Amino acid sequence: MKPAWFGLVYALTTSLCCLADATSDHTLELTSSPQDAPARRAPPKSLANTTCSAAGCHASHVEGASVHAPARDGQCEKCHVRSGEPDQHVFAPLTLASIPGLCHQCHDREQPKHEHFPYRTGLCTQCHDPHRSDFPTLFRKPNDGSLCFQCHDRDHILASKQAHGPVAVGACTLCHDVHGSDERQFLRASRTELCRSCHESLAEQIDGSPVQHPPVQQSCPNCHDPHGSDNGLHLKDTVPQLCFGCHEDIRKLVQESRVPHGAIAEPRSCLNCHNPHGAHHPKLLEGVPMDLCLKCHQKPRGKLIGIGDHLAKYRDHHGPIREGACPNCHNPHGSENFRLLVRHYQPQFYTKQFDVMEFSLCFGCHEQERVLAQFTDQFTNFRQGDRNLHYVHVNRERKGRTCRACHDVHGSQHPFHIRDAVPFGIWNLPTNYEPLPSGGRCTPGCHVTREYDRLGPRDKKF
Ligand code: HEC
Ligand code: HEC
Ligand code: HEC
Ligand code: HEC
Ligand code: HEC
Ligand code: HEC
Ligand code: HEC
Ligand code: HEC
Ligand code: HEC
Ligand code: HEC
Ligand code: HEC
Ligand code: HEC
Ligand code: HEC
Repeated sequence: MKPAWFGLVYALTTSLCCLADATSDHTLELTSSPQDAPARRAPPKSLANTTCSAAGCHASHVEGASVHAPARDGQCEKCHVRSGEPDQHVFAPLTLASIPGLCHQCHDREQPKHEHFPYRTGLCTQCHDPHRSDFPTLFRKPNDGSLCFQCHDRDHILASKQAHGPVAVGACTLCHDVHGSDERQFLRASRTELCRSCHESLAEQIDGSPVQHPPVQQSCPNCHDPHGSDNGLHLKDTVPQLCFGCHEDIRKLVQESRVPHGAIAEPRSCLNCHNPHGAHHPKLLEGVPMDLCLKCHQKPRGKLIGIGDHLAKYRDHHGPIREGACPNCHNPHGSENFRLLVRHYQPQFYTKQFDVMEFSLCFGCHEQERVLAQFTDQFTNFRQGDRNLHYVHVNRERKGRTCRACHDVHGSQHPFHIRDAVPFGIWNLPTNYEPLPSGGRCTPGCHVTREYDRLGPRDKKF
């Protein structure tokens, strides 16, 4: 322990020393190289023509890979105060490290917004030797993390199994300016610039992306732990948990929907469709939605038909499919509705009781008068005269046909997406549809061949 008066005496004596120095009473000169001499010997009778490091006295203080300029130049008294007679000199005090200002005599005090504790409090000599060192920049220890682990818990910083490259080799000072900086945690640059400065190709890729993810522009450590993590790619959490942290609405859809989408439980989860940094398609999509869907739905999958194969075979594609917009009907994250549909769509072949809401999916885009108007000459072409055959088939007390009885919502080989056949229990019930100039003809598994004609009489008996 230092006595309480220590600081005061030190301050006084250093300033006296500086005064003395200014009047060059005690100028020490360098002499020629020291003789071979025992490591320790009595101090010389007079210091007038010698230096402290000469003649083996304190020679080791000026040897090493880096030697501090004032020590090398014999300006020991910039930092030390001499007292007593030359032959019994005491350089007092010897432990100066805790005294701020000593080093700032010559080194300007940087004034960053955030100062590192040991810099602010003048504990410079915790990292720098005041005289000499075997390491560059007068470091007390190699700058491979050892400097930092004097005070910081190595196990905390290197806690993960996969440490980030520069952290693993202890290159802490590539990222941290350990005197201080204007960035929190004394970073050398903002939390995006810092990372971009090494990850140049990714930075270019992001800049070249018309759609960018706001948290990427804000700070890479939003998602990555700069020191490392156990989640792969230094991610702070695994995907999708990482994403849920900020996208509560999506989390709800994924975890609480009656119909979840298997895609999210597949490896890569959200990343099957989204790029976490930036992309060329809206909503950070890796491609046109349809191409993304067909990556997994080209071929049959479990009980599901292969939509890609189906579309390749049946070239009359429904409007939204021609636009590649599968999400117009399916929510890729989850849904309360059958088959992830964005609105309700009756899953059965028959309806129990007619309700236009059973088809709200279709009527999100098409006019519902198609099934509500008993007679019309404008809302549909599926009619005998002005008798609406959509109404006839669909709008019934019981056993109304659902749209699926006649239409394939993705695509078919007939116009108007009339399907070849419709699954009916174990039977693929055929429709055998043929368009005619002012109507059409079908021979379905439901009834004998029938023709409708818009120019014919309303009350034709089928
Ligand atoms: C820039 C300031 C500074 C200069 C210049 C300086 N010293 Fe020191 N010296 C210190 C500090 C601070 C300590 C306290 C111990 C420590 O932190 O290493 C010290 C400690 C010492 C010690 C005792 C501890 C040890 O390292 O053996 C001796 C002896 C010493 N200095 C000699 C010298 C000599 C000789 C010179 C000139 C060649 C010199 N010092 C130049 C700052 C300085
Ligand atoms: C009497 C003036 C003086 C004092 C006091 C002083 N320094 Fe220096 N220091 C210098 C000079 C001169 C240089 C060389 C600067 C250069 O080369 O640009 C230097 C260089 C350094 C370097 C860089 C060394 C290298 O090899 O890159 C460090 C680190 C350093 N000083 C730390 C300290 C610390 C810590 C203290 C306080 C214990 C201190 N200095 C006190 C004058 C001083
Ligand atoms: C936590 C360790 C640490 C502490 C404490 C510390 N430094 Fe440094 N210092 C460094 C590192 C690391 C560098 C090298 C910086 C670089 O490579 O840009 C350095 C570089 C320097 C240099 C060389 C010139 C420069 O700025 O790059 C000087 C001079 C210096 N420090 C003085 C000081 C002074 C004075 C104090 C106390 C007020 C101090 N240091 C406290 C770690 C420290
Ligand atoms: C002399 C002890 C000491 C040394 C050596 C030291 N630090 Fe520190 N450092 C501290 C203290 C004390 C704090 C303040 C802790 C706090 O605020 O919780 C701190 C804070 C920090 C912080 C900010 C922590 C936060 O939670 O905001 C960073 C970053 C940091 N140090 C990096 C380094 C690096 C990198 C090195 C090595 C080059 C290093 N430190 C060496 C003592 C030290
Ligand atoms: C690739 C750059 C990089 C390297 C290398 C690096 N850090 Fe960091 N460090 C950061 C960033 C960025 C933060 C701020 C994290 C945040 O904002 O969430 C940080 C935060 C810290 C903190 C405060 C938070 C905490 O975890 O306690 C400490 C202490 C720290 N670093 C010490 C170190 C030490 C010691 C090393 C070397 C072993 C090191 N860092 C290497 C970038 C780096
Ligand atoms: C000083 C250079 C440097 C800085 C700064 C830096 N990194 Fe790295 N990073 C590397 C190196 C080197 C690797 C290992 C080589 C590799 O796998 O690409 C790496 C690897 C990574 C990886 C794993 C890449 C992979 O394909 O396995 C991620 C993720 C990463 N860094 C993110 C970041 C983030 C986020 C930041 C900012 C906090 C950052 N890096 C700052 C140099 C750096
Ligand atoms: C929203 C979260 C998030 C943010 C913010 C973020 N990343 Fe990533 N990053 C990820 C995810 C998730 C992956 C894994 C991508 C994959 O596996 O295809 C990743 C992968 C990486 C990789 C390795 C693979 C590659 O694409 O090269 C690097 C390097 C990387 N990120 C760097 C960065 C940098 C630099 C920043 C800031 C400019 C950043 N990240 C911001 C989530 C994020
Ligand atoms: C740190 C918070 C954060 C994390 C983590 C995060 N995001 Fe985001 N994300 C945002 C913000 C903020 C927006 C912009 C506001 C919005 O649309 O909600 C956004 C927007 C998006 C968008 C819409 C972009 C657009 O153009 O409208 C998608 C898609 C997205 N994020 C996907 C993801 C995925 C996938 C992950 C996980 C890999 C993820 N996000 C992780 C914050 C985050
Ligand atoms: C199968 C592909 C796919 C997967 C997997 C997927 N998404 Fe999406 N995501 C999309 C599509 C397509 C859109 C655009 C929807 C639209 O335009 O209506 C979208 C939109 C978003 C949006 C923007 C929502 C909005 O209303 O603007 C966010 C945020 C988002 N996704 C996050 C996630 C997260 C988090 C995950 C993982 C849990 C995930 N996505 C998984 C395809 C996917
Ligand atoms: C990464 C692969 C993958 C991608 C990409 C993908 N899906 Fe899926 N999808 C699945 C899996 C797995 C299932 C569950 C299959 C099962 O039950 O066997 C599924 C099921 C479905 C179902 C039936 C859901 C049910 O339970 O009724 C629909 C509808 C569907 N996907 C539509 C889409 C659409 C639309 C897209 C594009 C936006 C898409 N999928 C992209 C993997 C994917
Ligand atoms: C116009 C709305 C609509 C569009 C656009 C649409 N779907 Fe569908 N999809 C449906 C409906 C309705 C069903 C339920 C069909 C049924 O069971 O009769 C369905 C069923 C599915 C199924 C389950 C198939 C099965 O065997 O039961 C998958 C997978 C699917 N769609 C994927 C896609 C893909 C991929 C796209 C884009 C290429 C797409 N859908 C575009 C409405 C649509
Ligand atoms: C997202 C909007 C949307 C939804 C939902 C939708 N459709 Fe369509 N539908 C279209 C578009 C766009 C066209 C093409 C119109 C055109 O080419 O003039 C179309 C065309 C049709 C056609 C052929 C019309 C013609 O003249 O060739 C039929 C039949 C059809 N839809 C039936 C349905 C059925 C049945 C449903 C419900 C399962 C449905 N649609 C749901 C947008 C939609
Ligand atoms: C019994 C078979 C059948 C059922 C059930 C059926 N449609 Fe149709 N639909 C047709 C036929 C046939 C046409 C072609 C009419 C023409 O142009 O000759 C057609 C045409 C259409 C068209 C194109 C425009 C028009 O009306 O001419 C749409 C849109 C349409 N249907 C939607 C639906 C919706 C929505 C449902 C379910 C609510 C449905 N259909 C149920 C047979 C059916």
